[in-house]
Amino acid sequence: MRIIRCENYKEASEKAAAVIASQVIQKPDCVLGLATGSTPLGTYANLAKWCDEGLVDFSKVMSFNLDEYMGLSPEHDQSYHYFMKHNLFDKINIDQSRTFVPDGLAEDPSSVGEAYDAHIASEGGIDLQLLGIGRNGHIGFNEPCDEFVAPTHLVTLKENTREANARFFTSIDEVPTQAITMGMKSIMQARKVLLMACGPDKMEILKAALEGPVTPQVPASILQLHKDLVVVYCERGQDEA
Ligand code: PGA
Repeated sequence: MRIIRCENYKEASEKAAAVIASQVIQKPDCVLGLATGSTPLGTYANLAKWCDEGLVDFSKVMSFNLDEYMGLSPEHDQSYHYFMKHNLFDKINIDQSRTFVPDGLAEDPSSVGEAYDAHIASEGGIDLQLLGIGRNGHIGFNEPCDEFVAPTHLVTLKENTREANARFFTSIDEVPTQAITMGMKSIMQARKVLLMACGPDKMEILKAALEGPVTPQVPASILQLHKDLVVVYCERGQDEA
């Protein structure tokens, strides 16, 4: 495990973007596992800038996102399809037909999960998986529970996750109750994992995840068992200099 402590969000975003950019430079046709949430926004802004400056070329990159809300169309402004398009894909030279996000409108989410995992495996697996961490220790939408779930699967969101995400919706009633998330198999099989945690409200759970027992009650704790984990963190929040 390599831990990179940063002074602030700006530095954390630069360090995380540098890890991703170096992956793309080393293997231009790499497979990236991508995440949504507020944490990676600065990282994505750096990648967009560096792509614009000709420093990184995403034209051969393929990507798979971690998760998607059930019931939201790709055009819904709170869907993770929309988030990725507007915060990254439209701003870099990636071929958008090679970017994949679980289908939140799938009629049979269980078959979507199996097909998503098979697709990732058929592309050789993920080279680098970017992750944020929820205040309850979730990664993707793998919420605290009694066992680690391996395949991409449907989850019922915990109330505290819905509350944390309600800030993006008009009211909490509009926050979907279910999501489809990559499970632990594709995450743990990624050849490198980059975990980001920024802000005072993430420090306690980050410590529990990295130093506490490996338990599905803290889903991110499974990353202690990953052979190439890079953690980029800062105690200061995203709006603090
Ligand atoms: P955040 O979410 O980046 O918006 O804090 C992270 C997560 O819940 O995984």
